[in-house]
Amino acid sequence: MFVCLCNALTDRDLHPHTAAGDCSVSMVYQACGCRPQCGKCVPFVRQMLRDGAEAARKSGGAD
Ligand code: FES
Repeated sequence: MFVCLCNALTDRDLHPHTAAGDCSVSMVYQACGCRPQCGKCVPFVRQMLRDGAEAARKSGGAD
């Protein structure tokens, strides 16, 4: 599924960079070799980072 139409990024493109949830939104775009254009996808990328952090926290058990 396309998440960012401006940069033609799919959830599969983004997932490797959001799965750990340990970076910023702008770092995700940088890792994909681009940067936000219109910004409409930013909330979705932010949510992917939150989901990744939550999943990492649950599977890591480091608390
Ligand atoms: S949809 Fe991602 S910057 Fe426009």
